[in-house]
Amino acid sequence: MKRLIHILLLSWPGLIGAAELAIPDAPEPGSVSTAAGLNHWARIYEVASHPRCVNCHVGDSPYPMWSGPSFEKTQRHGMNVHAGASRIGAESLLCSTCHRQQNSDEPHGAPGAKDVWRLAPVEAAWFGKGSDVICQQLRDPARNGNRTFQQIASHLGHDVILHWAWNPGGKRQPAPHSLADHVADILAWGAAGMPCPGDVTTATEEVSDD
Ligand code: HEC
Ligand code: HEC
Repeated sequence: MKRLIHILLLSWPGLIGAAELAIPDAPEPGSVSTAAGLNHWARIYEVASHPRCVNCHVGDSPYPMWSGPSFEKTQRHGMNVHAGASRIGAESLLCSTCHRQQNSDEPHGAPGAKDVWRLAPVEAAWFGKGSDVICQQLRDPARNGNRTFQQIASHLGHDVILHWAWNPGGKRQPAPHSLADHVADILAWGAAGMPCPGDVTTATEEVSDD
């Protein structure tokens, strides 16, 4: 099964010629204050918690979600869709059976992107999670694909599956801000030392201990 998935991923025609965003240099380390970094994080969280992102970032659940204003209510993906351990539905029905290389023109038709449609990695569990939880995950190399913040930024720049969130088709609400702004926020948050909202309490405690 693993080999089959590997071949499927490698042979996908849309992987060739995918659009990439050029990543600017990060601000100098130390040039962004913790407070400013937390403001950048707040904007990052507005994106990461948006339905266009969390509907695929469901953690260890095998069910993609249908949530956000374009759906009547928050529910599991219809039609008994199950991603399986493969995350691409290889065990039952491939996501790409319906999710093709581009958005369907129909209002509730299946959206698509020039990549293999699939669920996000289990570790990147964002659905229903608060700001601090997602922040801690994203800065933890053990749970972010072993990436520095610069590598997160360049991943965002070339991962076309998530570019879809800003061009979702149908009557779907796009993710807030823009991809370029999101990448700039990641770089500034990183230059500030990747602060998370929960850190502030610790810093205050340290000060009051003196
Ligand atoms: C169609 C499903 C899908 C949507 C929608 C989606 N992602 Fe993902 N995401 C994935 C997949 C699949 C991966 C793993 C890709 C890889 O490793 O190349 C991933 C990986 C990531 C990563 C890598 C870091 C990590 O912790 O592993 C980040 C960051 C990310 N996505 C951000 C976003 C953001 C921000 C949005 C919304 C703007 C979004 N994604 C929307 C499927 C999705
Ligand atoms: C039988 C066809 C079919 C299959 C198979 C299928 N989907 Fe879907 N999917 C749809 C349709 C149609 C929609 C749009 C529903 C709407 O807009 O009302 C959709 C919507 C979605 C959305 C919501 C996008 C948004 O608006 O935020 C996600 C996420 C998603 N699918 C993920 C998956 C994943 C992951 C798989 C494979 C495990 C998969 N789908 C398999 C037909 C399918």
